[in-house]
Amino acid sequence: MVLIAGIAGRALRISPEDLLQHQHVIGATGTGKSTLLANEAVQAFEEGACCIVIDPHGNLAHDTVRAVNPADLENVFLLDPLRVNFSLNPLELESYDNREIAVEKVIGEITEFFRKLYGRQYWGPSLNRIFQEGLRALYERDDSPTMKDLYDLVSGKINHREFQEELKRLPRGRTDAVLNKLAPFVNNRFLRRIICREKEIYRHPPRAYGERGACEEGLQAAQRSEGEMREPRNLR
Ligand SMILES: Nc1ncnc2c1ncn2[C@@H]1O[C@H](COP(=O)(O)OP(=O)(O)OP(=O)(O)O)[C@@H](O)[C@H]1O
Ligand SMILES: [Mg+2]
Repeated sequence: MVLIAGIAGRALRISPEDLLQHQHVIGATGTGKSTLLANEAVQAFEEGACCIVIDPHGNLAHDTVRAVNPADLENVFLLDPLRVNFSLNPLELESYDNREIAVEKVIGEITEFFRKLYGRQYWGPSLNRIFQEGLRALYERDDSPTMKDLYDLVSGKINHREFQEELKRLPRGRTDAVLNKLAPFVNNRFLRRIICREKEIYRHPPRAYGERGACEEGLQAAQRSEGEMREPRNLR
C-alpha cells in the first residue's frame, strides 16, 4: 500500500491495484503535486514495483531519484538525454510472431502520433500515403528503420525504385509537406540522437545514478545545457 496523505491523524493509502488505474493530480502551484507523485513512485518501487517516471521538465525525475534510499540506487536508471547516451527508436519492431502485423501496428501508431501532433487538417491523404508507403519500403530492408531514414528516402537520398515511382504519381510538393513534418525530429540534434538511431539501447541502460554525487552532477549538467533542450521550432 502506498501512503498518499495523512489527514487529521489518519493515513490515506492507495492499493497497488488502484495505482494501476489512472490518476489525475490537480492543485495550485506549490501545493505538493510533484512531491506526491515522487513519493508514490518511490514507495511503489520500494514495494518491488517497476516504476517509470516520464518527465518533460526534469525536476520531478531528479526529485524522485533523490527520494530513493541510497542503498537502492543501483536499480535506478536516469535516462537524462543531457548526460546519458541512450536512444529510443519508435520505429524499431518489438519481437513479433507475425512480422506484417507488427509492421502495420507500428506504422499505424506513428502515423497517429504525427497526425495528432500536427493536426488532421495538415495531414492530407497524399501526405499520409507517402509517409506510410515510405515506412513500408524501409521495413522491407530491416526491423529498425529510423525517422532519418524516412527523411532520406522521401528526399531521394535513399534509393527505392518502386517508392520513387509511387512519388512521381503524386502531386508535386507533397514530398515537401512530409519532409517539413519530419525535419524537426531529424534536424534537432538532441531529438536525432535519441530517436534516430537504429537500435534502442534503453533495454540495457547505462547506470546513471550510482551515488548521490552523480545525481548532483547530472542536475548541474541539465541546468547548464537547458537552452539546448528547447523544443524544436516549426512543429506546426
Ligand atoms: N505533504 C507535504 N507536507 C509538507 N510539505 C510538502 C508536502 N508536499 C509538498 N511539500 C512541500 O511543498 C513545496 C512544493 O511542493 P511541490 O513542488 O511538490 O508542489 P507542486 O504542486 O508540484 O508545485 P508546482 O505546481 O510548482 O510544480 C515543496 O517545498 C515540498 O517540499
Ligand atoms: Mg510540480
